[in-house]
Amino acid sequence: MSNKKYMVGVIPGDGTGPKVVREGLKVLSAASEKYGFKYELVEYDFGGDRYLKTGEVLPDSAIEEFKKLDVIFLGAIGHPDVKPGILEQGILLRTRFELDQYINLRPVKLYPGVETPIKGKGPEDIDFVVVRENTEGLYAGAGGFLKKGTFDEVAVQESINTRKGVERCIRYAFEYCKQRNKDKKLTLCGKTNVLTYAFDLWQRTFNEVSKEYPQISTDYAHVDAICMWFLKNPEWFDVIVTDNMFGDIITDLGAMIQGGMGIAAGGNINPEGVSMFEPIGGSAPKYTGKNVINPLAAICAVQMMLDYLGEKEAASLIEKGVVKVTSEKLKSLSAGKMGYTTSEVGDMVANFVSGE
Ligand code: IPM
Ligand code: MN
Repeated sequence: MSNKKYMVGVIPGDGTGPKVVREGLKVLSAASEKYGFKYELVEYDFGGDRYLKTGEVLPDSAIEEFKKLDVIFLGAIGHPDVKPGILEQGILLRTRFELDQYINLRPVKLYPGVETPIKGKGPEDIDFVVVRENTEGLYAGAGGFLKKGTFDEVAVQESINTRKGVERCIRYAFEYCKQRNKDKKLTLCGKTNVLTYAFDLWQRTFNEVSKEYPQISTDYAHVDAICMWFLKNPEWFDVIVTDNMFGDIITDLGAMIQGGMGIAAGGNINPEGVSMFEPIGGSAPKYTGKNVINPLAAICAVQMMLDYLGEKEAASLIEKGVVKVTSEKLKSLSAGKMGYTTSEVGDMVANFVSGE
C-alpha cells in the first residue's frame, strides 16, 4: 500500500473529451481505493467553449499552476467553431513546450479481441512503442513569410534539431528499451537519404549513445519504409525513436493497426518535470453528448499515467481490465458500435479494478 498523494491536473477539453475523461477518472478512483494511493484533482476548463466566451486560450498563470502538479490528464482539444490551430497550438503544443515535455510516448499494442485491419496479424505481432521527440523539429515554429499575400510569397518552415534535444530523446528511448520486456531492439526512424543535415545529427547521436547500450540491438528505417513495414511486418518492432513530425505521422498509422483511436493513448513526458497523458484521438464533436464514444483510450491514458507515477501494480491491473473488456465484451471499438455505452465501458473496467 502506497501512501503518496498526487496532484492531478484535469483538462477535460472539448467535444467528447469531458465524457471520456470522466470514465478515466472513474477507473483512477477505483485504482486508488484498491491500492491506497491518494490524489487530488485540479480541474481546468480550457478549450473551445472558454475561448469562444472569453477569448482566452491558456493564461500564463495556468502554466505556472501546471508546474506545481504531478501530472496532467487531458481529454481532447478541438472545437468546430474555432479556427484550426488556435486551440491545438495554444493549449496542447504550448503545454508540451513550456513544461518541456520532450518525449511523446506512444505504445502501439493490439489487445486480444481487437480487430486490426492487417490480415493475418494478431496481438503477438503488434506490440511496439514509438518514442517521438516532442519539442523540436518542424513543430518548433521557426520560419516565416516573405511578401505574404503576393504572387512572390515565400513561406519557410524550418526543422530545428538541437544536439541536446536529439540526445535526450535518444537516451530516453535506449533507457525505455532497456527496461521494456521485449526484444531489446531500438529502431531509429528518419530520412537520412534526403534530410541530410537533420538526420545526420540524429544518426550520429544514435550511434554514439548506442555504444553505452551493448545489450540493445539497433536498426534504422526511413520513415516511408517504416510505414510499409508497419503494415507488412509490425512484429519487427520493439521500440522506435524518431523526430516530432515523423512521430506524429507514424503514430496515427500505429493507432490504426492497434484498432483505432478508440484505444490509442499517449504520454507527453518530461522525466524530470510534469507530464501529461491523453487519449490521442480528437474531440469527435459529432458524438458529443451521445454516450457512444469509446473511453478505453482515456482509460489507457490513466494506465500510462499511473505507470509513470510508479503505481505499477495499479497500472497493470487497469491494463488487464481493458483486455478483459476488449476480449470478452466489446463488439467493436468504434463509437456507436461497441454494444455498450461510454459509461458502461468505464464501469466494466472500474469494476474489474475494484474486484467486483
Ligand atoms: C498529436 C496531435 C497534435 C500534434 C496536434 C493536435 C497539434 O496530432 O498529438 O499527435 O500534431 O502533435
Ligand atoms: Mn497527431
